[in-house]
Formats: sequence, structure tokens, C-alpha cells
Amino acid sequence: MCGIVGYIGPRQAVGVLLDGLSKLEYRGYDSAGIAVNTGGAIEVRKNAGMLKVLKGELETQALNGTLGIGHTRWATHGKPNDVNAHPHATEDGQIVIIHNGIIENYLALKESLQARGHKFLSETDSEVLAHLIEEAYSGDLEAAVRTTLRQVRGAYGIVVTHAAHREIVAARTVSPLVMGVGVGEMFLASDVPALLPYTREMVFLHDGDLVVLHEGDYFISDLEGNALTREVTHIDWDAEAAEKGGFETFMLKEIYEQPQALTNTLLGRLVDETGEVELELNLDPGSFKRISIIACGTAFYAGLVGEYLIEQLARIPVEVDVASEYRYRQPLVSPDTLAIVISQSGETIDTLEALREAKKYGAKTLGVINAKGSSMTREVDDTLYIHAGPEIGVASTKAYTSMVGAMLMLALWLGRARGTLDAARGTALLKAARELPRLVEESLSEARVAQIKAVAEKYAHSRDYLFLGRGVNSPTAFEGALKLKEISYIHAEAYAAGEMKHGPIALIDETLPVVVVATDSELLEKTISNIQEVRARGGKVIAIVSDGDTDASRHADDVIRVPRTLELVSPIVNAVALQLLAYFTAEALGRDVDKPRNLAKSVTVE
Ligand code: M6R
Repeated sequence: MCGIVGYIGPRQAVGVLLDGLSKLEYRGYDSAGIAVNTGGAIEVRKNAGMLKVLKGELETQALNGTLGIGHTRWATHGKPNDVNAHPHATEDGQIVIIHNGIIENYLALKESLQARGHKFLSETDSEVLAHLIEEAYSGDLEAAVRTTLRQVRGAYGIVVTHAAHREIVAARTVSPLVMGVGVGEMFLASDVPALLPYTREMVFLHDGDLVVLHEGDYFISDLEGNALTREVTHIDWDAEAAEKGGFETFMLKEIYEQPQALTNTLLGRLVDETGEVELELNLDPGSFKRISIIACGTAFYAGLVGEYLIEQLARIPVEVDVASEYRYRQPLVSPDTLAIVISQSGETIDTLEALREAKKYGAKTLGVINAKGSSMTREVDDTLYIHAGPEIGVASTKAYTSMVGAMLMLALWLGRARGTLDAARGTALLKAARELPRLVEESLSEARVAQIKAVAEKYAHSRDYLFLGRGVNSPTAFEGALKLKEISYIHAEAYAAGEMKHGPIALIDETLPVVVVATDSELLEKTISNIQEVRARGGKVIAIVSDGDTDASRHADDVIRVPRTLELVSPIVNAVALQLLAYFTAEALGRDVDKPRNLAKSVTVE
């Protein structure tokens, strides 16, 4: 995890670094630090706690200099304290590094460095990099970094500077690193939003790339020193899109962006004239016999919805795995498997490694991904971008609904192409898909939001929550529970509604709110029976029902109405109500919604 930035140019570095780090705090916020070359010497400031602590210190003790590096940390090795905060320096303070990732062989390296007399200050794996570079340095920083990186195993985005050189050397493997190309100035960051106020010309560095930056130029090479050419990508995101835009939190802003995000995911792909779905894929829809969907967290639940949709509409067997398990369970993969990885960031290490595992056995691969230029997009055979735009809030919202939207598009496309989805049903689903942005907009009307807020506040002090759903909305229940856990810290469990009687029913008493997704469905009657089972045991039922419902709502303590739509597209509409329920619960409890404890936006460690 962690966020890193670097700057070389005519501006005062501190402003650029702090500004960049503030956009990267979603990657980690245990501690923050910067190092600035103040003219022949490098000065480091670092503190445990959020960036604002560091900012406060810099207000009283300014740092002047136009070359610097900065870091915001999500702790892996060593507690989140001042000493373990980055940057890390060599004993003589001449070389300073920041690192995002994990050096897997750091213990062996540390022991041999200590045996050679190096003094370590921190408990981090990262500090070995500083000492290794120091040992390898004999006047050429680039060569020293190259020599060092040949010795380390693991994941790194690393940025290095030396007091005596007006240059920055950086490299990456696994951990993301993007370079911003300015006029007479150069930037580095873990993610694009940190650089948008300064430049829109970006180079996405690849695994194994090393780059040397000077004010007016840069040189990219591999670890052997062979020169490489990387494309400069013009980023057309609105800088405003990466900011909160008037909302109190990124999460709320992103919830409200869903109509737009869904428009981008769905509408450009629906061809009105023919009623077909057009996906920008090279994939031959008849070239595989089974599908394996691999993802983590919220993306995994989008995968479960995808499984349901693809099996229903395209009649292809699908299995869905959490990526961290997939790699180690010796999955049955062959060249007639299509492995689909789903990821907002495109950088989640578990998913990335699972993708590599599937490729090893010859699977065709498809990424359903949000972040352009991310690692996964470079390793899959084909990418179906979800086009949700930058998502900053740690709890995923618009990326989830867009992922489900993309899976719906994929299922429709496969169903039509493989002849398993007849034109009449296909057209009805396409029509419902086209309506989704409008229905989500409607879900976000003032009156509906106020009603969800009232329900959230009523139950905000509950100790536990149970979520139930059936069929294509059983993953909706899981996603609702995950959202609540992540941002309110209330313990929440989710079950397929029919499973409740096989165990979780024992949890029910008058203190337990049970959210039941009871929107229009062929199995609604069965869900209503489950609602009655909860009520009979004193549980409090919060029913999510379709507009116009008179059945399920009769048996509930509280009712949240959502716009009516076809069952197969309803997970998108229903998810929005559950996001709001989680949001207002967390708000009522005074939680830091955008930076929930212990979490980070992009999990690039195993
Ligand atoms: O970037 P990814 O979609 O690969 O991230 C996967 C999970 O880490 C992510 O969905 C996580 O569960 C979120 N915090 C959910 O809100």
C-alpha cells in the first residue's frame, strides 16, 4: 500500500508534495513524511498520524527546496510511529528513499547489512533499500539503485534521491508508479489524481522499469540498463472529478455520481438501432467452455452477481473465487477457461497474482477494471473498462454498481452471441439496462435519501446487523453487510435468505435489525416467509421493497422503497439503498467515512 510522490522543477517542492499526498491518503494514512533537497543537504520531516500532523509541523518549520519526495504510509512491517514513517535515510543522510510495497527477503538482507556495520533505525523492510543503495553507490545513483533492485525480491514502487545530485531515480515492480511530464518539471506519484493539478501528460511505468528524472527530461530503462520507450498518455479527467466537489465526503460524492458512472458503463455500449450490446473486445465468445471469475472484496460480490447473470443468460458454467484463495487451491484451469478478473484499482495484488496463475495454465483472460493503465490491464488479453471515473472513498460504491453493470453487458453479449438469449428477453433486459442511470438518479431523490437516513439513525446503535437476499440479490446482501462493516464498524453478517434457518436464525432477538432485500422477484413469496420467520423471533425487519409493493412491506418494521425494475438488473438499484444505509449509520456514529480504520483503498500487499 502507501502513496508516494516525487518532484523536481522550479516550484517549491513542499507544496507539490503535500498537495500530492493529500490525494493519496486513501492509500494509507498511518504516517506521512517528506524529504527536500535544501541545497546540498537533504532534510527529512516525518510524523505518525495523518498528513495534517506533518502539515502542522511544516507550518512552523519551513523547508525550502525545489526537489523532494513524499510518502503516506499504510504499515506492513513495524508500527505506525515516527521512526517507521518514510522517508528513510542512510546513516550519513546523503541518500533518502521512499517505498511502497514489501521487500520479501528483507530479513536476510538486513542481517547481512548489519553484519557489515550498517545501523538500522526503523523496523521496516524498506530501510534495507537505503543501505543497499549506499553500499552500491560510487558516484552514480542510477547504477546504485539498479544494483540494489537486482538483489531484492518482492514488490516496490521506490523513489530515491541523493544530496549531491539534482536528480530523482525511481523504479517499480508490482506497486504502481506514474510519472507526470511537465514543462521544465517532472513528477512521480502512485496514482494520477496526485498529479492532475500540475500536468495531464502521464507515463504509466511498467513492472521492472527504472526512470531517472531531471527538470527537463527523463530516461526509462530496465534493470539491466537497456533503454525503454513508454507511451505518454493524455489524461482527460477533470481535476474536479478527483476532488470532493461540494460533498462532505468522497464516498457520498461517489454514491451520487452513480447515474453518470452507469451512463458511462452502459449506454455507450447499447446500440439503439439493433438492440445489441457492443463491447470493445477481441474475445471470441465461442472460444471457451467455462468461466472463472476472480476478485476481492466488493469486486468479488460483483463477480457473484456476474455468475448469476452469465449462467442465466449465456448458459456457461461459472465459478467465482476470492483471489487470495484461488492462487493456492490448485484451480482446474485449461485453455478452454476464460478467467475474468474484476478490480476497481487494477492493482490488488491478490487478484493480480491469481490472474498470473490462471495465465500459467493457458486460460484466456479478461479484466473488468476501472483504473486505466493499471497493472492488470497490461497483463490481461482483453479489458472491459467499467468507466466509473476515479474512486477515492475507501469503501467502493460507484465502482461496484459499474462492475455489476459491466457484468450485465458481458452476460447479454455472451448470451446473444452464443444463441442462448432470445431476442425478446434480450431486448427487455437491454431496455431495463438503459433505464438504470435514471432509476439510480431517482433512488437518490431527496425524499428517498431522507427516509433511508431516518432508518439508519434509528438502528445506528445496534451491536449487530443481519442482511438477507435471494438469487441475484444474495450478493447484494453480502455487499450491504460489507459496506456497513467497513465504515460503521458494526458487526454485520449476510446470508442467502433461505440459509437463515440453517443456523443464523439463532442470532435473532429483539435487538437485531435484519435487512431483507425483498424487491420484485419470482421468489418474493419465499423471501416474505423468511421475513415472517425473523418477526416471529422478535427481530426487527428493514425491508428493501420495490415501489408499489404491498406484500413484503406489510410484514416489516421499516420499509425502504426503491424504483421497480426487472429482477436481473435490480442488484444495481438495490445496492444504492444499502450504500446509503451504511453511509448514514457511519455518519450517525461519527466515523471517518472516507478513511475507515485499518483499511486502505488499494491493497497491494498479500
Ligand atoms: O481495487 P479492487 O477492486 O481490486 O479492490 C478489491 C477490494 O480490496 C475492495 O473492493 C475492498 O473490499 C473495498 N474496501 C470495498 O469497499
